[in-house]
Amino acid sequence: MAERNVSDAEALIAARARNVLPAGGFGNVTFDVVIREGRGGRVWDESGNEYLDFLLGSGPMLVGHAHPDVTAAVQAQVARGSTFFVNNELGVQLAEEIVAAVPCAEKVRYLSSGSEATFYAMRLARAHRGRGKIMKFEGGFHGMSDYALMSMAPARPGNFPQAAPDTAGIPDSVRDEILIAPFNDAETAVSLIREHQDELAGVIVEPLQRMIPPEPGFLEALRDATRECGMALIFDEVVTGFRFAYGGAQELYGVVPDICALGKVIGGGYPLAAVAGGDDFMKYFDAAEVGAENAVKQIGTLSGNPVAAAAGLATLQILKRDGAYDDLFAAGRQFMDGLTALFAKHGLAAQVLGEPPMFDILFTDAPVTDYRGAAQSDGAKLKLFNDQVLAGGLLKGDNKFYVSTAHTGADIAEALDICDRAVAAVAAT
Ligand SMILES: Cc1ncc(COP(=O)(O)O)c(C=O)c1O
Repeated sequence: MAERNVSDAEALIAARARNVLPAGGFGNVTFDVVIREGRGGRVWDESGNEYLDFLLGSGPMLVGHAHPDVTAAVQAQVARGSTFFVNNELGVQLAEEIVAAVPCAEKVRYLSSGSEATFYAMRLARAHRGRGKIMKFEGGFHGMSDYALMSMAPARPGNFPQAAPDTAGIPDSVRDEILIAPFNDAETAVSLIREHQDELAGVIVEPLQRMIPPEPGFLEALRDATRECGMALIFDEVVTGFRFAYGGAQELYGVVPDICALGKVIGGGYPLAAVAGGDDFMKYFDAAEVGAENAVKQIGTLSGNPVAAAAGLATLQILKRDGAYDDLFAAGRQFMDGLTALFAKHGLAAQVLGEPPMFDILFTDAPVTDYRGAAQSDGAKLKLFNDQVLAGGLLKGDNKFYVSTAHTGADIAEALDICDRAVAAVAAT
């Protein structure tokens, strides 16, 4: 089995981290690596090991690390001040770009993280309908708020629509505010929406849940049922926004929600996120329009931060170039097809699930359409695969490959060589 080479200097930083950080880390990944720098589609650790980077900062670095255009835009703004709390032109310009790109977006409200974006999207839905409950899907991830961390990864799936908290520290009462439905089961989801319409404010969904694509007709059924019942349909596009298409998953799948949560790519690697939606919903952020008693309160110290807006705008300019998404999808497809071929070569029951800009592998050959199906896959094999690719010089998340526009066909071929050895190691167990 391959092992990562760790220098004394990197080991010392990891030891210092254990002194001052709970569990010795930032809480984001299970593996122990200290990254020193990144350029394009690669990063280097403090031991000097080079990695093909398919973690990409967990998604934001869609155009690669330290892209010269993004760096120049950030440096120009940093020299003019970092944050002002009041409007700045770059923040206005980025909102104009989001409104022009994202089908559901007529107005934009900035936040600093994806967790805040989904949190305020849900609050907006409640203010709009004057009801308290939100429906989400089992296995769906919407960040870290008390409302989002319900039945995201239940150890023992319960009966729908009963929610189960995913973390300690959530008040008992919150569980009753969230209804859980099975992803990709349009019939059950629609009947729950109709049955609970008097108490529901809206439905929140990842259009592609983790790496599970929507079955044909599923998102359309949610769209129709929420519209019929007068409640908000919220797409969590924190991952998919500007990654699956310039207009996000709502463009790729052709279903337009009322509200969407955006993050990651729009900040170009800096802390910036947003709620975007139609005027009928976004007006609840405006007390002058709906009255103070009906309005959603929302203030954030760094909202619309000009450095992050500069990085986001520069990133979007790169994505607007001819062929950017064609190349991204071609690289991702090459990777997905190559992995599938490796499983056949080594005789392993495994599959690749997702869309070319973002996918993962599941060690099962049974069809996977929801959380319970994904939970049947062999997690120990995935962990071994992940450890082996890391040792071989490929960085990925515990449950995701993110592809960037900086990755070339040659990079993908190199990545597949690393994966070949990792799949062989898994097959040998
Ligand atoms: C679908 C989805 N929603 C929300 C979030 C939370 O975003 P953040 O980590 O910026 O709070 C994430 C983070 O990965 C996500 O994948």
